[in-house]
Amino acid sequence: MSADTTRLAILGGPKARATPLPGRFAFGDPEFAAVQEVFAYYKAKGIDFGYQGYFEERYCQNFVSYLGVGGFADAVATGTGALYVALAALQLPRGSHVLVSPITDPGTLSAIILNNLTPVLLDSMPGQYNSGPEQLRARLTPQTRALVLVHCAGVAAPVDDMVAIAHERGVKVLEDCSQSHGAKWKGQKVGTFGDIAAFSTMYRKNHATGGCGGVIFSRDENLYRLVRAHADRGKPFWREGYNDKDPKQFLFPALNWNLDELSAAIGISALHKLDGVNRRRRDFLRAFSDELRTHSELCTPSPVTDNDAPFFFPIFVDATRLQCTVREFGEAVGAEGVSVNPHYDYVVSEWDYLKPHCADAFATPNAVAVRDGSFNLLFNENFGPTEARDLAAAIAKVEHHYRKT
Ligand SMILES: Cc1ncc(COP(=O)(O)O)c(C=O)c1O
Repeated sequence: MSADTTRLAILGGPKARATPLPGRFAFGDPEFAAVQEVFAYYKAKGIDFGYQGYFEERYCQNFVSYLGVGGFADAVATGTGALYVALAALQLPRGSHVLVSPITDPGTLSAIILNNLTPVLLDSMPGQYNSGPEQLRARLTPQTRALVLVHCAGVAAPVDDMVAIAHERGVKVLEDCSQSHGAKWKGQKVGTFGDIAAFSTMYRKNHATGGCGGVIFSRDENLYRLVRAHADRGKPFWREGYNDKDPKQFLFPALNWNLDELSAAIGISALHKLDGVNRRRRDFLRAFSDELRTHSELCTPSPVTDNDAPFFFPIFVDATRLQCTVREFGEAVGAEGVSVNPHYDYVVSEWDYLKPHCADAFATPNAVAVRDGSFNLLFNENFGPTEARDLAAAIAKVEHHYRKT
C-alpha cells in the first residue's frame, strides 16, 4: 500500500522533502587554506600569532574597501561586542535615551543597557520587519541621544531619511548591519549612512570570521580611535610614543574585545565570497518565490530586490483563510523537511526581563503583527532550483490541509 502523500508529516505522513537540505559550509577549503596561511606567515617570522596583527589589518582594509566609501574598521570578537564598543565610542551621557528597532537580537539591547543607556523602542513600518522615518519621528524626544537602527533579515531600512531626521536633532546613528552584510539602500551599502556601524560576523552570517566575530566601521577617524581603545582596554594606539606595555598611558577602563588572527584570515576569505553569496541567495529566493506564487494562494513571499543581502526570508500567510495559526502553519511546514523559524521571537517588546530597563512600556504593535503574520524560511546560498520547487511544494501541501474550505 502506498503512503498517503497528502497526509502532513506533523500528523505522521511522509515528509514532502525527504532528502536533507544542502549544507552551507561557510568554512570550506579556502578558509582552511587561510588559516594555514596564518600559521605559515607567523612560522616564517618566528613568532606566534596573536591579535591586532597583519591579518586583522588586511581584513579591516578589505572590509573598508568593500563598503566603498573610505573610512576605518576594527574587527572584534562578537557582534554584541561590536555594538557595545560602537556605543561606548559615542560617549553618550549616562542614562541617555537610545532609540532602537523593535525586532532584533538581544545583543543589540544588551549593548545599550550595559553602556548605562536607556533603550526606547521604535515600532516597525506596517507589514515590515524594519523601522522607518515615521516610527522614528513618533519616538524622538529632547532626551534622545542616539538611534540604533537594525537592517533586519538582509533588507535595508530607509536609512538615509532616518539619519537626516536624527542628525537634525543632534542624534547619533549606529547602524546594526549584522543581518545585512552588503545590503544596499538606493545603491549605497548599509553601514555607511550613520555615524558608526556594527556587524556580527558569527558563523551563520552572510560573511563570517569564524564561530564568533564582529566588525565596527566608521568614516570618522576620531570615532575609530575611540573604538580601538574601547575594544582593547583603553589603549591609545595612535598617540606618539604609545607603548602597549605601559598601562599608565591607557585612557580608561575597557574590556578586551579583540578578534584573533585566525578569525581575521577566515574573514578575508569570506569577504571575497560575500557578493557571490548574496547573489546566489537572491537567485534562489526569486526562483522559490516564483514557485510559491504558482502553487500557493495563501502565502506571499517577501519582495526580493537587487539591494538585498538575504539572511532569513519572511513568508506572509493569510491567517483569515487558515484553520490554524500562522505559527502552527510554520511548524507544519518545518515538519515537512523545510528549515523554518515558525515564530520569530525576536520582538523586543515581548521580553519580560528587558521591561525594567526600557524608558517606557511601548508595545510595538506593527512589529508584533508582522511577526505573527509570517514565518521565516531559513536557507543558504547552496539552495537551488530543486529546493525552490520542493520547498514551495511542501508549503502548498500544508496549505491544502489547513485552508478553510
Ligand atoms: C541584528 C543583530 N544584532 C546583533 C547580533 C549579535 O551578534 P553576535 O551573535 O555576533 O553577538 C545579531 C546576531 O547574532 C543580530 O542578528
